Amino acid sequence: MSGKTILTGVKPTGAPHIGNYIGAIRPALRLAAAQQKSYLFIADYHALNAVHDPKALREDSYQVAACWLALGLDPQKTVFYRQSDVPEIFELATLLAAVTPKGLMDRAHSYKAAVDKNREAGRDPDADINMGLYTYPLLMAADILMAQTDIVPVGKDQVQHIEFARDMAGYFNNTFKPVFKLPGYQLEKEGALLPGIDGRKMSKSYNNHIPVFMDSNARQKLVMKIVTDSKRPEEPKNPDESIIFQIYTHFIAAEELQSARRLFEEGKIGYGDAKKNLFIVLEREFEKPTQIYTEYMAKPALLDELLAAGAEKARQIARQTLSRAREVTGLKPLR
Ligand code: ADP
Ligand code: TRP
Repeated sequence: MSGKTILTGVKPTGAPHIGNYIGAIRPALRLAAAQQKSYLFIADYHALNAVHDPKALREDSYQVAACWLALGLDPQKTVFYRQSDVPEIFELATLLAAVTPKGLMDRAHSYKAAVDKNREAGRDPDADINMGLYTYPLLMAADILMAQTDIVPVGKDQVQHIEFARDMAGYFNNTFKPVFKLPGYQLEKEGALLPGIDGRKMSKSYNNHIPVFMDSNARQKLVMKIVTDSKRPEEPKNPDESIIFQIYTHFIAAEELQSARRLFEEGKIGYGDAKKNLFIVLEREFEKPTQIYTEYMAKPALLDELLAAGAEKARQIARQTLSRAREVTGLKPLR
């Protein structure tokens, strides 16, 4: 076990698919289990910039909470909370704003992408861009710095945000006194890109995904729909070109990999049986989590309770950090 503090935020954006699980959820859970201190939160204030439907925001937040718990997050070990339940984060964002150059926000990829899109469409460059989107990196820095985080596990698209958080910590520490730890990041592995049932990258936007939580019949039907070529069972097949095999490899132990490859290469398995095997490993992995997920979704009060307990713990460190930050600026420390 390492003595580092890890922290990550997830936006509530609907139910995950098995690509999200392999690429993001499972690595974050493994990392959390291996560290002394871990924080995982639902970034609902971040979602609010884009979601203006109260019912959707509420339900998506429950969904993401139930999802992580069902997949193995241990709320006794990992501090698990809603961002919106930790008001210290927002005050910290205001303190950071005082030392953050506007130019830094202008350079943020997400803001620049939104501006470019408007320009291409011949619209005003700032059309439909709210201040929440513009100052997104500021709030994200407060999320991270409040917990004195060492490592943030992230996808490639988030790296700039972590670098900004580091910059802001530096500006603040240099302007006043050292208060914030400078955070680093750990990049998700590139190799873990799952294909969808049609062979393109698995993605909700291609509608080629296999959801994590679904009943067994529906799961089986989806697996049976995976695209293959027309090779007969006894023909040798290249496992690296098979969607079935590529998904399968992520759900078996490393020792089983060679024999599974050989079945393909030596023409000892047909696609029908390979799909059955894939279905079996997916059932093994997700049948129980699907049950747990369904149970949690039926008990939102239980989720509220769990998240409130997590927020209590998060607020302890947040208050310490905020109090110290206030003090070094000349504001009154918290009592
Ligand atoms: P989608 O493309 O379905 O909208 P997102 O872009 O919301 O998925 O991805 C959320 C997280 O899941 C990201 O961190 C990304 O790295 C991971 N992820 C998404 N699709 C895949 C995939 N096909 N294989 C592996 N990881 C993925
Ligand atoms: N911006 C992240 C995303 O879009 C979510 C997020 C918010 C986050 N605050 C964070 C991630 C702090 C890591 C640390 O996925």
